[in-house]
Amino acid sequence: MRDMANSITIKHHYPLLGHNTFGLDVKAKQFVNYSTVDELVVLLAVLKESNERILHIGGGSNLLFTKDFEGTVLHSGIKFVEEVSRDDRHIFFRVGSGVVWDDFCAQMARDNYYGPENLSYIPGEVGASAIQNIGAYGVEVESIIHEVETIEVATGQPRVFQANECEYGYRDSIFKNRLQGDYIVTAVVYRLSMIPVVHLDYGQLQELRSHGGAPTAQEIRDAVIAIRQSKLPEPAELGSAGSFFKNPAVPVEVFRQIAASHTDVPHYVISEDEIKIPAAWLIDQCGWKGKTHGGAAVYEKQPLILVNKNHATPADIMELATLIEQSVLEKFNIRLSPEVNYI
Ligand code: EPU
Repeated sequence: MRDMANSITIKHHYPLLGHNTFGLDVKAKQFVNYSTVDELVVLLAVLKESNERILHIGGGSNLLFTKDFEGTVLHSGIKFVEEVSRDDRHIFFRVGSGVVWDDFCAQMARDNYYGPENLSYIPGEVGASAIQNIGAYGVEVESIIHEVETIEVATGQPRVFQANECEYGYRDSIFKNRLQGDYIVTAVVYRLSMIPVVHLDYGQLQELRSHGGAPTAQEIRDAVIAIRQSKLPEPAELGSAGSFFKNPAVPVEVFRQIAASHTDVPHYVISEDEIKIPAAWLIDQCGWKGKTHGGAAVYEKQPLILVNKNHATPADIMELATLIEQSVLEKFNIRLSPEVNYI
């Protein structure tokens, strides 16, 4: 394929090392970066002609490449942050899918608009935030999404999804599920609050309550960044994809059996029938903290995170994940499911 415009870049046999935070040394047959919706539409038409396999990525912070990708990897370079409207409480920002998520968080915190501050410092880009329903410290991004602008892969037609059409759940959306691969997110409209709306229930954020008056968005952002830096590896220093597994929701009966022998089991009640148990605790109880498998390892400070300690191969990470799943299943009769997307 030739370059169609200056802002489209096309690379062949392209190393994906810089496009997956695990730092896995895999290649894509073709890698294309585009910068506008019009370019994306043209690209999709050309790729459809050649029946090409497509993978759209963001910051590659939630992906596990299991091998080289024999198709075209697309990446959005659509970058803008624009105010679209405001009322007496809210301000709406339309943001291009290729904007780095934390750059947006930083800008909003600087202007003291509330909404994304608890989600500060999450690696990745705006498009993926709306697909993955990123969440941290008591907030999920669905709570501030107003609408999601997309292009349908099959037709190149635009479609806007209202937040309530996105079927958001825990790390889940219609774009990961029912319509997986059918739509490409090109922009997200977020609804932020100009008056303080704060979420300080998470342990280490609670102390911000005692400051007298609502903390600023910047104060919350700073506290969140400090927590993340103390618990989570910096992708630039140690490859990982953040939490590798989801926190499992288990039937109350399963929880009771565990609590009978482990009175200290941490948990959150999510409904009458189900209780969520932190996967980090389950993995910790199985003795996995700091353990290695080939070049892969379980992060010492947070065992929910698998890291690329020493030139890990995709197989090292997949095998380690399977071993962890097996031991949690044997010890607790709970089946962990990955939070990262296997490609
Ligand atoms: N725990 C242990 N041992 C440890 C660490 C934690 O037993 O070494 C237990 C503790 O009981 C702790 C609990 O696990 O209270 C929860 O740990 P933490 O607060 O670190 O959060 P998490 O449930 O492991 C989730 C998200 C994170 C998010 C944090 C904070 C998922 C899969 N992960 O982790 O998201 O930052 O809460 O809200 O829901 C990500 O998705 O990549 C991610 C990092």
